[in-house]
Amino acid sequence: MAGSRGEFSSRFGFVMAASGSAVGLGNIWGFPTQAASNGGAAFLLVYLLLTFLLAYPALMAELILGRHAHSNSVAALRKVSGSHLVREIGALTGIAGFTVASLALSFYAIVAGWMVAFCVAALAELSGSTALSHWLTSFGLWRNVLFLVIFLALTIGIISAGVNKGIERWSRRLMPALLVMLVVLVVYVLTLDGAMTGLKIYLMPDFSGVLSPHLILNALGSAFFSLSLGVGTMLIYGSYVSDDENLPLLGGVVTLVDVSIAVLAGFLVLPAMYVALHNGVEIFTASGALISEDTLIFTVLPELFATIGLPGVVVSFTFFFLMSIAALTSAISMLEVPVAYVTEEFNTERHVTAWVIGGIIACFSCIILLNFDELFGFIITLTTRYSQPLLGFMFCIYVGWVWRRDSLLQEIRKGYPEVETGLFWKIWPWYVKVVCPLIILGIFAQSLQG
Ligand code: PFF
Repeated sequence: MAGSRGEFSSRFGFVMAASGSAVGLGNIWGFPTQAASNGGAAFLLVYLLLTFLLAYPALMAELILGRHAHSNSVAALRKVSGSHLVREIGALTGIAGFTVASLALSFYAIVAGWMVAFCVAALAELSGSTALSHWLTSFGLWRNVLFLVIFLALTIGIISAGVNKGIERWSRRLMPALLVMLVVLVVYVLTLDGAMTGLKIYLMPDFSGVLSPHLILNALGSAFFSLSLGVGTMLIYGSYVSDDENLPLLGGVVTLVDVSIAVLAGFLVLPAMYVALHNGVEIFTASGALISEDTLIFTVLPELFATIGLPGVVVSFTFFFLMSIAALTSAISMLEVPVAYVTEEFNTERHVTAWVIGGIIACFSCIILLNFDELFGFIITLTTRYSQPLLGFMFCIYVGWVWRRDSLLQEIRKGYPEVETGLFWKIWPWYVKVVCPLIILGIFAQSLQG
């Protein structure tokens, strides 16, 4: 029925859904190489500190605001506002949030489509269809469109089934599967020649560069992207949490799962890269840095898999299946933001809304594919580098400055009355009011400098 909201049926369901949103391509193709190139274990330490001291408070701001309003981001920001002008700015921030979430999904779905294509390519390889496998792994418009559409159809199918039968059910299934596959791959790769060198590079602490402001701000930007902050995904997931739950604890668990998977991914990616080097694959760029992001995933790793024969095909399938899952659970959280807004504000059917909005996003993704060189990088920069920090800043301002303090404190007490005796109660309201906005502005100022 249009209008009935739904609620996560259990703590586990929420933790799987929210960590599903957080654990995505960023954790696996970004974090490990960033750590290895910037001081190894020393970077890890800085990343952990920043995540728990700054990204976690910002995550809590979204979750608490969402749970308080039990509504979409536009209505939630309106609800805590006083004057007409502040309400309207809040509504505009919410609208900007779901626009950015949709734009982010339009590029994310393209990359996720490549993951699915590589996964199917491994199956084609196994069945002896080398030509098909070659088509699936070659960059081409029709392959890109086909797999983008397949991936978005899966995302839309889950979202149109609703909060419990869609988001929760699938996150409960997919996230444990992701963890099992990741652990199996780590164990396998660590047995290969060359893996230990990668492990050393990943974990060897080098403290010389880690205190540079540039690196700290970069690590913080990654932590914000990794926790899906700033576009209202965590707000909307928070809005489906029952009033009886201890939200600071749940947010803490989600943060822990997100960081743990990023760290665990390092135990796979870095050893795999050095196994590749051992097998004769180039893993450094011309400037001597480790190859990262899409070139790492779509060139270096497939070249490595090709050097280990039949087990390589199975490893390739498992790896790209894992990446597809990571992308899918993030993509559903992005699509939920505009779908929740439209169904609630205009009282439309979720099913129809999900297909219409998903269809519009698919059209936009096709426009990006048709103008790949001009649009792809531009949309990524626009959404992740500029919009996410700025919108995250606005959420903190609304929670820290606009929302009445007594009402905010009352919301934190819900489901966890003992919170008043703990550290969270004393520190968090100040963090979200002063520290988080200042730091986010710092990240933003740095992005502007390039
Ligand atoms: N957290 C996801 C990742 O690390 O890949 C990316 C993401 C998901 C960003 C959802 C924003 C969002 F709304």
